[in-house]
Parts: sequence; structure tokens; C-alpha cells
Amino acid sequence: MAKKIVAANWKMNLLRKEAISLFNGLSKSLLDHKGAEVVVFPPSIYLADLLQVTNTGIHVGAQNFYFEEKGAYTGEVSATQLKDLGCSYALVGHSERRMIFGESNELLFKKIKSGIEAGLHIVYCCGESLEQRELGNEKTIILEQIEVLRPLSTEELNKISIAYEPIWAIGTGVTASSSQAEEMHAFIRGVLVDLFSESISDYISILYGGSCNENNAEELFSCQNIDGGLIGGASLKQNAFLQIVEFSK
Ligand code: PGA
Repeated sequence: MAKKIVAANWKMNLLRKEAISLFNGLSKSLLDHKGAEVVVFPPSIYLADLLQVTNTGIHVGAQNFYFEEKGAYTGEVSATQLKDLGCSYALVGHSERRMIFGESNELLFKKIKSGIEAGLHIVYCCGESLEQRELGNEKTIILEQIEVLRPLSTEELNKISIAYEPIWAIGTGVTASSSQAEEMHAFIRGVLVDLFSESISDYISILYGGSCNENNAEELFSCQNIDGGLIGGASLKQNAFLQIVEFSK
């Protein structure tokens, strides 16, 4: 059975005090929490602050990193540095990285490899645009994006979760309906069976992301192939996020 995961993608939001206060609030509420693994992806400059909080049941992860281990890469941080700081997770392949920063499948594979090698658990994001969906190409696009994982070994796949995030649903308030989301999650599960095996497909968590909030999470999380969520906007509000975590049980 795939592990349930609920992750907060804070993106480029919150000032330092706000970030620490939100994290402390979540930590207090989730200390004895049972159920889904909870992960927070803050802006990288707050990682060290959040990692200093003790008595927290929350994992901390990075929204981005570069695939080289060290060297002359001004402005970048490596997976090894993140692991050394105490991070346990990292996002790779978010549509904002693919679109705004031009990250290709080839680059994303290098990031996945170096992240896993450093000991991070990778949440690999995929998702189609509205145009691709309207042309009926959503499954072709997702297949192409998931095929990036093909060269990974069984051991490496243990360190991978997938987030299906239709681009048209991110930050728009338009969520995929639970049947649209479940159809794509089931498709991804099938692709994983074809690429690897049934048992590998069964243990890879597939999270839904894209305007997931406290009003729709319960229905989304009740779908057979939805193992949790990657939450953007709603993760900036403590009560909304806690409610979403609650629905993942
Ligand atoms: P959203 O973002 O919940 O604000 O739509 C999700 C994401 O981009 O990870």
C-alpha cells in the first residue's frame, strides 16, 4: 500500500516570522498526529529555521535544488547540502519550474538522480496544460513525464512519490473533479505497472495537487488511487491545511 502524504508547497510566500509562526502552529497541532506523513516545502531561506524546531511531526523539504553536488553554480544549492541541513524531501518537476524556468525532462532526471543519491525523498510532479487537455493529449503528456523515471532501480523508486497537478487547476480555484483526478491517477498507476511492476506501482504514492483545499480534499482523498495531496494556496492557512491533513486519515 502506498503511504499517505499531505504536503504544503508554500512557493515564494511568507516573510520569515510568518513562516516560523505557521510552522510552529502546525507542529503543535500535528505532534501526536497519526496518519498521513506531513511535509512542508518552505522557501529555501527558511529551511534552516524550520529544521531547528524540535517536537514536530512534520518533515521539511526543498522546493528546488541543482543536480551537481558542489562547485561554481552561483545561486544554486545541491541535494547534498539540503540533506546535510536536515531536509528529508524535495520537489522536482513542478510545472512552475518546467514553464517559468524552462526545466526539461532531461534536467529533471538529473535532479531526481542526484536527490535520491543524496538521500532525499523526491516528490516528482507532472501535469498537463489546459490546451493539452482540450486537444485530448493529457495522457500522452503524463506518459512522457512519467517515463522520465524509467531508468530508476527498484531501490531508487522507493524514494519517489508522484504528484499529479493539472496546470489548469494550479492556483486557479478550478479543481479537477474527483472523477477527472481519479482517472488520471489510475492512468499513472497503470503506467507504473507497465514501466516497472504491479508491486512497485502499488507502493508509489500518487498525490493530487491543484486548488486542493479544505472543501474538496475529503472527496479527492476518498478516491482509490489518490494517496494524499500537494497543497499550494490552502497550505498558507493553518486551519485549512490542518483540516486537509485530517481528511487524509
Ligand atoms: P494550489 O497549488 O494548491 O495553489 O493550486 C498547488 C501546487 O502548485 O503545488
